[in-house]
Amino acid sequence: MTSTGSKYKPALSYHVLTRWYDAAIAATLPERLIRKKLMDLISPKEGELILEFGCGSGQNLAIGSVRGPRTKWIGIDTDERILKVARKKQALSKEVELMSYNGQKLPFSSSHFDCVFSSLVFHHLESDLKKEALLEIFRVLKPGGRFILADWGLPANRKSRWKFYLVQILDGFKTTEDNVKGTIPSLVERAGFKMLLENDQLETLFGTFRYYTAYRPKTKNRFYYI
Ligand SMILES: C[S@@+](CC[C@H](N)C(=O)[O-])C[C@H]1O[C@@H](n2cnc3c(N)ncnc32)[C@H](O)[C@@H]1O
Repeated sequence: MTSTGSKYKPALSYHVLTRWYDAAIAATLPERLIRKKLMDLISPKEGELILEFGCGSGQNLAIGSVRGPRTKWIGIDTDERILKVARKKQALSKEVELMSYNGQKLPFSSSHFDCVFSSLVFHHLESDLKKEALLEIFRVLKPGGRFILADWGLPANRKSRWKFYLVQILDGFKTTEDNVKGTIPSLVERAGFKMLLENDQLETLFGTFRYYTAYRPKTKNRFYYI
C-alpha cells in the first residue's frame, strides 16, 4: 500500500498534486526531448494498434496521434483523476481512446496490440507489480509485437545516483529499487520478451533516464514467473 492508500501510485505520488503533473514535468525535465525519443522508438505505422500502459495525462498520446494519424491509440491507467486531465486535452485526436482499469488483468484479449509502450510508470510499481504488469503486457502483445519501456534506470555515475534520491524521496524507495539497481532489463527478459535492446539514455535533473525495446517472440515461449 502506498501513502495514498492504494497499491497504485498517482502520477506525482499524491492525488492533490495530480492537477500539477503536466506543469511539474515541463518545469523539471527536458520533456520534449524525452517524448520525442520515445515516439522515434515507437515509430507508429499506419493501421497499427498501440497501447500506452500508464498513460497519465495523455501527453505521449497527444504527440503520438499527430505522428501516426492513421494509427489507433489506446491509453490505460489506474487513476481516473489523471485520465480526467487527459480527457480535457484538445490535442488528443479521435484516434485515441482512454480507459481506466483496476491495475490487475489488462482488459484486452491476448495477442491484441502491435506495440505497447510505457513511460515513467515502472518506478511507481513494486517488484511484484512490475512482474505482473510485464506478463500482462507480454500477453496482450501480438507475437512479434514490440514493447518500449522508458523510465529511470541504473545511474550512469555517482552524481546521477545522488540526483535519483529526489525521485526516491517523492515516489518511494521500494518501487524504485529495481530501477536504481539496473534490474529492469532482466525483469523484462524474465517475462518472456526477447531481443531486448537498450536504445538510449538521457541525463536529467533526477538521474539517468533509459529507453528499452523488446519483442514478444513469434514462436511460443515459456513464462518464467509462473
Ligand atoms: C508518472 S505518470 C506517467 C504518465 C505518462 N506515461 C507520462 O509519460 O507522462 C505514471 C502513471 O502510471 C499510472 N499507474 C500506476 N500504476 C499503474 C498500473 N499498475 N497500471 C497502469 N497505470 C499505472 C499512474 O496512475 C500514473 O498516471
